[in-house]
Amino acid sequence: MSENWEEVQDTAAGWMNEAGKMLRQSLHESLKIDTKSNPNDLVTEMDFKIERFLTENIEKTYPHHKVMGEEEAGADIESTDGVLWIIDPIDGTTNFVHQKYNFAISVAVVQDGIGKVGLIYNVMQDEWFMAQEGKGAYLNGERLPQVTEVDLSEAVIGLNGRWLAREKRDGEQSLHTMVRKSRSVRNFGSAAIELAYLACGRLDSYISFRLAPWDYAAGLVLLKEVGAVVTNFNEKEPSMLKKDTILAARPKLHKQLLHYVHNHEGFEK
Ligand code: IPD
Ligand code: CA
Ligand code: CA
Repeated sequence: MSENWEEVQDTAAGWMNEAGKMLRQSLHESLKIDTKSNPNDLVTEMDFKIERFLTENIEKTYPHHKVMGEEEAGADIESTDGVLWIIDPIDGTTNFVHQKYNFAISVAVVQDGIGKVGLIYNVMQDEWFMAQEGKGAYLNGERLPQVTEVDLSEAVIGLNGRWLAREKRDGEQSLHTMVRKSRSVRNFGSAAIELAYLACGRLDSYISFRLAPWDYAAGLVLLKEVGAVVTNFNEKEPSMLKKDTILAARPKLHKQLLHYVHNHEGFEK
C-alpha cells in the first residue's frame, strides 16, 4: 500500500503536540515514579500515558500499521515488514524527573526497514526536528543544511560518561584517548536530542554502547537527510528491532572515530 508520508508526518506532529501539552501540564502535578531494570532506570506514569495516547491514535487512524514503543507496544514484533511506528514517549526520563527539561518525544515511521519519517520534539525548548526520506530535515520549519566536515581535534562529541568509566579497553584505541584528542564531550541525557543536535550542527558526533531502536530510529531519518553517517560499531546499519551500538557523526569524523569503537568488546558491568 502506498502511503502519503507528508500526511503521516503532519498527523504525527499533531499528536505529539498534544502529548507535549500533557507532559508540560504533568510537571505541575505530583508524578508516580518507578524503576525498571535497575535503580537508575526510571519510568513514570507519563511514559505509559503518552505511549498509550500515541499508540491508540496510530491504531485508530492507520489500522494496517504496526507500533513498537519502549514501554508496552509491540513487544512481540520480530519483523520490519510493512509500516512500523517506532516510538519513545519520553526520551530522557531521568531529565524529565530531575530537571523537568531536556526530554523529547521521538517518533519514526519505517517501511520495510527503511526510515520514511522521523520526528523529535524537544518539549520544553519547543523545538521540532522533522524529516522525510529524500525531502530534507527541518528544525522548526527551516531546512537544515548538509553537515560539513570537522577533524577530531575540533569535534564536540556526545558521550555518556558511564561508558568511559566502565571501559575495558585501554591504550591508543581507547575511548579515553579519543576524548583526549577531541575538543570536548557533552552529555544531554537524551539520545534523541543528541542525534537531533548532530543533525543541526550543535554536536559533531554521538556515540552510545547500547541503545534501543526507539532511541535512534527518528534520529536516523534526520541524519541521513543532512548527510551524516550512522552505523553500529561494526559499520552496519543499526537494528530496527533490537538494541545496538551507535556511532553517528559527520562523514570523515565517522571514519576517524571507528578506530576507537570498532570491535569494541564492551564495558564492565
Ligand atoms: C535513555 C536516554 C539516554 C541514553 C539511555 C536511554 P530513556 O532513554 O536516551 O540519553 O543514554 O541509554 O535509555 O530511558 O530516557 O527513554
Ligand atoms: Ca529512550
Ligand atoms: Ca523512554
